[in-house]
Amino acid sequence: MTASATLVASLALARRGRGEGRPPRFSANPFSLGVASGDPAADSVVLWTRLAPELLTADGGLAPEPIPVAWEVAHDEGFARIVATGSALALPQLAHSVHVELDGLEPDRWYWYRFHCGDATSPKARTRTLPAEGTSPTAARFAFASCQNHETGHYAAYRHMAEAGYDLVFHLGDYIYEMKSKAKGAIRPHGMPEILSLADYRIRHALYRSDPLLQAAHAACPWMVTWDDHEVDNNYCDAVSEEEGIDPVAFLERRANAYQAYYEMMPLRHACLPRGADMRLYRDAAFGDLAAFYVLDTRQYRSDQPHGGHWHGITAECSAPEATMLGREQAGWLASRLIESPARWNVLAQQVMLGMVDRTAGEDSRYAMDQWPGYLAERRRLLDFMADRRVPNPVILTGDIHSNWVNDLRADDRDPSLPVVATEFVGTGISSPPNGLTDPGKVEELMAENPSLVWHGGGNGYASCTVSRDRMDTTFFTVDDVALPDSSVSVAARFTVESGRPGATRA
Ligand SMILES: [Fe+2]
Repeated sequence: MTASATLVASLALARRGRGEGRPPRFSANPFSLGVASGDPAADSVVLWTRLAPELLTADGGLAPEPIPVAWEVAHDEGFARIVATGSALALPQLAHSVHVELDGLEPDRWYWYRFHCGDATSPKARTRTLPAEGTSPTAARFAFASCQNHETGHYAAYRHMAEAGYDLVFHLGDYIYEMKSKAKGAIRPHGMPEILSLADYRIRHALYRSDPLLQAAHAACPWMVTWDDHEVDNNYCDAVSEEEGIDPVAFLERRANAYQAYYEMMPLRHACLPRGADMRLYRDAAFGDLAAFYVLDTRQYRSDQPHGGHWHGITAECSAPEATMLGREQAGWLASRLIESPARWNVLAQQVMLGMVDRTAGEDSRYAMDQWPGYLAERRRLLDFMADRRVPNPVILTGDIHSNWVNDLRADDRDPSLPVVATEFVGTGISSPPNGLTDPGKVEELMAENPSLVWHGGGNGYASCTVSRDRMDTTFFTVDDVALPDSSVSVAARFTVESGRPGATRA
């Protein structure tokens, strides 16, 4: 039986058994992974939790039986004005996770929610719906994050994010890291070898989500998540593993494990439920007519990197017309959504840098082949499309490289005589080892080499954007000491994009 057939069968069984038997009793708090919400629309949002009284075990310390979990949604923090209540089944096939797709909610409104199971009650949390289609909101505030290696730092950035009161958070990937523990320098070791099985991925996700600051950020507002490589395997492309000589079928088995554990842990709609080794994660959302968000997946459908994925000068291989990050279906979907978009701001939330940044001073050049410079024909098609079809105010949000970048994007960034088409903000990692240059001389050299580069910064942290009718203001925050959970957080730089004028100006 396939995984989805098993799931359907057990859902039917569980439905028959619903309400029978004694209420579950737990040896420890079953809500140790907290709660979350995600993928908001104007009338609906997903509520998530996963029962796991024993956090770092494959089955969460639960018998392989369905468990009913009650949920409630209210207008107020005290749960006096109840909006809706219901019950969902936490199934062992999905690690006792719950994904409640609420609907019939009012647009542009905040709600409180929590879960009950047996005699346990989850933490309460806030979520919201988006403004309705056809309305013209005046402002939206959202944050974006990536790269939260648990071993190499604490999540002070998430404390700041949780307290800042955003409407929405985008996670752009590297939510977990799949590697074995570092030999040296780990602040909070993974304590396991590289992960491969479904049980491994579940435990690794549980370790990360056990962090109270990450839980607080999830509890503050809805998130829209997407993955990069480390949710599965470093630098993988479609069925091609990082390591040489891995059978693609064996790799797809691993990918199925990773995708399933990801679905189980994230506040995603049932439409994202994986089928075998495939999981449709690209999707969009609209904040009235102010902003449209396109959440992309640049790993699952990607052709293999040119030049083995190593740093390299631009060659014909980098401009191969058939090379793709998005795959044909996703690229077609994105184009059709962009053409129809009534939004003033069109925001792509994706993984790897579009900006073509040459990292070698002088005649020689070196570009990142795992990023869009390795896929130049598709990059050019995307930017030409945005220019030709006059997509209003395209902005790209990016993660991946543990450093901050602002890029004015052109069809070819090496040619400053071309018009700027879109603006890219690359946010540094929450806690992964920072890769940014900090020596002012080196940064100056980099800026001189790359005409499209507006700013570069190092450190750990996250970024936020405030969008209004006539401008987008982006702020980069950096954590002062990533080794401390209560580290202070400072503003590293601010930028403005004016509506109708692609490109960023330092504020
Ligand atoms: Fe990363």
